[in-house]
Amino acid sequence: MKGIILAGGAGSRLYPITRAVSKQLLPVYDKPLVYHPLTTLMFGGIREILIISSPSALPDYQSLLGDGSQWGLSLSYAAQSQPRGLADAFIVGKEFIGPDSVSLALGDNVFYGARFTHQVSEAAAITSGAGIFAYEVVDARSFGVVEFDANGRAVSLEEKPQKPKSNWAVTGLYFYDNQVVDIAASVKPSARGEIEITTVNEAYLKLGKLRVFRLSRGTAWLDTGTVDGLLEAAEFVRTVENRQGFKIACPEEVAWRMRYIETEDLLRLARDYKNEYGAYLEKLATMNGSRDLDP
Ligand code: TTP
Repeated sequence: MKGIILAGGAGSRLYPITRAVSKQLLPVYDKPLVYHPLTTLMFGGIREILIISSPSALPDYQSLLGDGSQWGLSLSYAAQSQPRGLADAFIVGKEFIGPDSVSLALGDNVFYGARFTHQVSEAAAITSGAGIFAYEVVDARSFGVVEFDANGRAVSLEEKPQKPKSNWAVTGLYFYDNQVVDIAASVKPSARGEIEITTVNEAYLKLGKLRVFRLSRGTAWLDTGTVDGLLEAAEFVRTVENRQGFKIACPEEVAWRMRYIETEDLLRLARDYKNEYGAYLEKLATMNGSRDLDP
């Protein structure tokens, strides 16, 4: 399975911060936001990843992430000329996807929690149909919303409904078979002028091929699209990291734990940093602790 990170968008809710800087390059405490969707895909075993952003921001992502080989990944880049909507990822990314299945991670979504990595690898194993993740929120009006029947089966999807049929919001992490390329190409822009991912998911639902993974309340799904959301996400990451001594969404660490790179590689990467980040990587490489994903 291949992966796409959608890291464009207007970021208008964060203006003026995002007038000159792409949202997904902003810091969440000690790392750029884009490290979160990147490591989310890595947890699923996805190593061939396309980063999509605006033509002006793309060079910044390239200088931050490179070709990915330092983390045992293969990263490529494509420009989205306008933020036409989330399903545009499969139009911009058509050539990259080729004949494969594909996962889409929105560049501004932060996930953290026990069992999350297992659920991602389960979804990444999908070879037919689609898999999406739902999360219970207080107010689902600003999200795609999924309704379940008494047996827990998804029965409807609605984009930003005035009166949500449930509190289950669809998160920014999606898994599809190759049919998504044709489905996305047939989606017409919505009333707000976007090619909606909800329309793609509805198509899979109608085919009886949509699997909805419910994230438990033990998982954090954080919004970084507003100034308060971004600061709260940073505080969350800082609190957990400083309490446990383990970093959240550190690509070097995830690459090492997933065995995409060796301990010598991790040590070499550590030496690039003369700061606390480098000291952390060095500690991982030299400690006698477990190398499992959930140490
Ligand atoms: P949104 O939060 O829907 O939009 P935005 O980031 O442009 O922010 P704002 O609403 O404040 O203007 O986007 C969700 C994610 O998807 C975000 O990481 C940006 C990305 N995105 C694209 O890369 N291309 C697009 O066409 C759209 C709509 C979003």
